[in-house]
Formats: sequence, structure tokens, C-alpha cells
Amino acid sequence: MTSVLVVIASAGHTAPREDGAGPRHTAAVHHTSIRCRQCHPRQREEWLASAHARAATSGAYHRALEHVPDARRPSCAPCHVPLAGNPERIATEGVVCDACHTADAAARPGGVTPRPELATKFGPYADSKDHHFHRVAFSAFVAGSDLCIACHSDPEAGPVVVLTSAVEWRAGPHASRSCPSCHMPGSKARAAKGGPERTVYHHGFGADRAKSLERAIHVKTRVARTERAAELSVSLTNAGAGHAIPTDLPERRLRLEIEGRSASGEPVVRFERAFGRHLVDAANQPAPFFLAVRELADERLAAGATRHERFELPAGTARVRIRLSYQRWDPAFDRYYGPSEPVLVHDSEVRVR
Ligand code: HEC
Ligand code: HEC
Ligand code: HEC
Ligand code: HEC
Ligand code: HEC
Repeated sequence: MTSVLVVIASAGHTAPREDGAGPRHTAAVHHTSIRCRQCHPRQREEWLASAHARAATSGAYHRALEHVPDARRPSCAPCHVPLAGNPERIATEGVVCDACHTADAAARPGGVTPRPELATKFGPYADSKDHHFHRVAFSAFVAGSDLCIACHSDPEAGPVVVLTSAVEWRAGPHASRSCPSCHMPGSKARAAKGGPERTVYHHGFGADRAKSLERAIHVKTRVARTERAAELSVSLTNAGAGHAIPTDLPERRLRLEIEGRSASGEPVVRFERAFGRHLVDAANQPAPFFLAVRELADERLAAGATRHERFELPAGTARVRIRLSYQRWDPAFDRYYGPSEPVLVHDSEVRVR
């Protein structure tokens, strides 16, 4: 591990050569992810598919900004455009490599405090070696939960808690596991071209949502006969997440849809239940987080908890289809965020005898 207290004032500020053989420690300024790709192609490719890569440019973010009161708008950038103030290309890459790898502490809540002048990439290894492009150093801040919490929790107390994952994680059954231990699964590969084989961590944050939600939520269904009708019970257990599902953005929803059909396939009955948080504005109307003053209800699946839902099936119901899907936001908020496609998490059918 290198001492990061040594700041070489003359380091960098010289354009690196395309073959990477530039002057010593050329990384003393921020670089776009394209520069990192030269030696870290795997991380670049995984990151490109992640929500972090879209944080500064997504349609949802820009549409939302149009509805945010002027005075509040500048507060959005520290997390969505953490490298604002750098050349435009880097800023528009959102939560980009250097936003996470050039800081080893959060000096202020609600965002990171990058220190490119150190020309050091902070990461998970204690045994990697400095090279001409950048120095390396182990950082408990980066490899633990604190880096994530810097952006995934509210910078200051507002009228409602908006980002809840860190609060829920601390109080939940998985507090002994770090955010990256679940969100960045490890595998054996090279961390950099020409480097040794070691454990590297996946940078796809949220890229395989359907699969990870299917693993995390256990769905059990059962049909019981009552005197005149039948009752379907569905239990949903949040077995795999370190926080509620959904978490953070309060407009996210899990939607359970039940569809009963007769023996000949005619629709007989339909139910729908959505699990999420319900925030309202001063006039008690449903509101997105940036206009909300109060939480009316929280109906999410808490970490480790099970919800039991019951549905009465009328006579004549022969089979029931049970579908669970994830929605990036309740369609009622499309006018603030634009349209979003639901992601199917569970789909099964049971017979009613
Ligand atoms: C949201 C923060 C974040 C972003 C953005 C990010 N990383 Fe990482 N990166 C991490 C964390 C955290 C680890 C260590 C994970 C652990 O210890 O479980 C890591 C590990 C690494 C490592 C060590 C090897 C490996 O893959 O685990 C390299 C190299 C790396 N990142 C490069 C990059 C590059 C290049 C980019 C951009 C294309 C990037 N990172 C974007 C947080 C980030
Ligand atoms: C403290 C850091 C932070 C601040 C400040 C912040 N956000 Fe976010 N934002 C996040 C995080 C983290 C997520 C991801 C939450 C999740 O996945 O549930 C997010 C998600 C979003 C999304 C959903 C994106 C999508 O496509 O799913 C929108 C839209 C958004 N933020 C808009 C804003 C606006 C507008 C502001 C300013 C009023 C703002 N954010 C301020 C951290 C922040
Ligand atoms: C010229 C090649 C090269 C370029 C360009 C490069 N790196 Fe690296 N990086 C390496 C090598 C080599 C290692 C050490 C790998 C090992 O020990 O397995 C490394 C290691 C890392 C680590 C792990 C540090 C640790 O000790 O845990 C991080 C994080 C990292 N690089 C981030 C970046 C980022 C971000 C960029 C783009 C701004 C970048 N690198 C550009 C070659 C490069
Ligand atoms: C610099 C701020 C920042 C840091 C640091 C950061 N995030 Fe994020 N994260 C965001 C923002 C902003 C979004 C929402 C991006 C969007 O969709 O517009 C997000 C999105 C996500 C998502 C995807 C949510 C979705 O709905 O697809 C996951 C998962 C996530 N972050 C986990 C992590 C983890 C784990 C860490 C720590 C290794 C971390 N983040 C570090 C700002 C950050
Ligand atoms: C025990 C494993 C585990 C831990 C620990 C964990 N998460 Fe998660 N997280 C999950 C699973 C599983 C999901 C749901 C699948 C998905 O969205 O990838 C999830 C989803 C998310 C999402 C997407 C939110 C949404 O509803 O769209 C964000 C953001 C997130 N986690 C952030 C964090 C942060 C920040 C921490 C640490 C404070 C953390 N997670 C700790 C397993 C975990």
C-alpha cells in the first residue's frame, strides 16, 4: 500500500499517450471511463450497462428536473453529476469510475469528495502495485459501505426521508454484510490487462434486476377451499435484500397481479396490489419525492419480512395466474419521469379444485 499523504504537485496534467506509456502518474486529473477502458475493459463494459452510467443523462432525471423548484435544483447534482465542473464528457458520464475511485472519505454528506490530485485509485486490494498511469491504495471507504452510503442516503433531514436503503440496512438482518458484498459479486479474473488473476467485483449495479429480484423474493401460493368459494393466499418474503424492496426512490413499486379464469378460460376475477411508499404534498395529493411533505403509508417488503396477501376467488374459478413485477415508478408518476417498462419477477399458475 502506498502512502497517500505524499502529493506530487507536478504529477500529471500532461496528455497521456495513446499506448498508455505516458509520463509518471498521468492520472492526477479526472479521466473519462474511456481512458480506464484501455486497461480495465471488463469494468467499463459492466459499468456501461449500469444505472450509474445513466445518472447524469437519463430521460427520467432530466424530465424530473423540469418539475423541481428552481431553488432546489442545484441540490440534485452532487449525486447524479458527481464530477460536475470537469470537462463535459466526464461530467455527463454520471457516477463514473473516478467518482468512486478517487476519494477515500466523504468530507460532506450527500455525495463524494474526489481528490484527483493524489493520482491514486482507491480500491479493494492491499497488494496491487503503483504503475505509470496511477498509484493504487486500499481503501476501507471504497470497499465497505461508506462510499455507497455517501450517495444512497439523504444529505440532510427534509420533511420526509427520501433515500432509505442505508437506514434500513443498518437496522436490518443483513447489517453485517456490506453493500458491495451483495451488489458487486466477486469472480476470478484479471483486474487489469496484464495483471494477476484475483477476485474482481462486478460493476453492473442493477443491470440484471429481474434475475436478482427473482432470487431475493420468495413467493409461495396456496389455495384453500372455504364453504362457498376458494381463497388464494400469496406470501412474499424479502429473503435476499439488505433493506426493503423496493428501496430508495419512494416512487418505485412491486405489483402483484392475480387473474382468475374459468375452466373454459373466461376471465372471472382480477386483483392488483402495489407495494411501495405513498408520499403526498401539502394538499394531500400523491407527490414525487421532491414535492412531498409527508408519508401517508409504507407498504414495502421489509428486509427479512413476509407479507401475506389473501384473495377470495368466486365460484367458477378454475385456475389463477399470479404475477409479480417491478416498476421503476408507479405509472401515476409517468408525467414526472416518463414511461417505464415493468420487469416481470414471478409468473405462475395454480389450479383451484
Ligand atoms: C459506484 C461506485 C463505483 C463505480 C462507478 C466504479 N467502481 Fe470500480 N469498484 C467499486 C468498488 C466498491 C469496488 C470494490 C468492490 C469490493 O471490494 O467488493 C471496485 C473495484 C474496482 C477495481 C478492482 C477490480 C474489480 O473489478 O473489482 C477496479 C480495477 C475498478 N473498480 C475499476 C473501475 C472502473 C474502470 C470503473 C469505470 C468503468 C469503475 N471501477 C466504476 C466502485 C465503483
Ligand atoms: C443524496 C444523493 C441524491 C440526491 C441529492 C438526488 N438523488 Fe436522485 N437518486 C439517487 C439515488 C441513489 C437514486 C437511485 C435510487 C433507486 O434506485 O431507488 C436516484 C434516483 C433518481 C431517479 C430515478 C432514475 C431512474 O431512471 O430510475 C430520478 C428521476 C432522480 N433520482 C431525480 C433526482 C432529482 C430531480 C434530484 C434533485 C431534486 C435528485 N434526484 C437528488 C441519489 C440522489
Ligand atoms: C495503463 C493501464 C491502466 C489504466 C489506463 C488505468 N489503470 Fe487502473 N490499474 C492498472 C493496473 C495494472 C492495476 C493493478 C491491477 C492488479 O494489481 O491486479 C490497476 C488497479 C486499479 C484499481 C484497484 C486499486 C487497488 O489497489 O485496489 C482501481 C480502482 C483502478 N485501477 C481504477 C482505474 C480507473 C478509475 C482508471 C481510469 C481513470 C484506471 N484505473 C486506468 C492499470 C491501469
Ligand atoms: C456519487 C454518487 C453514488 C455513489 C458513490 C454510489 N451510487 Fe448507486 N446510484 C447513484 C445514483 C444517482 C443512482 C441512480 C442512477 C439513475 O438511475 O439515474 C444510483 C443507482 C444505483 C443502483 C441501481 C438502482 C436501479 O434502480 O437500477 C444500485 C443497485 C446502486 N446505485 C448501488 C450502489 C452501491 C452498492 C454503491 C457503492 C458501491 C453505490 N451505489 C455508490 C449514486 C451513487
Ligand atoms: C443482503 C444483500 C444486500 C445488501 C447488504 C444490500 N443490498 Fe441493496 N439490494 C439487494 C437486492 C437483492 C436488491 C433487489 C435486486 C436489485 O435491485 O438488484 C437490492 C436493491 C437495491 C437498490 C435498487 C432499489 C430499487 O428498489 O430499485 C439499491 C439502490 C440498493 N439495493 C442499494 C443498497 C445500498 C446502498 C446498500 C448498503 C447500505 C445495500 N443495497 C445493501 C441486496 C442487498
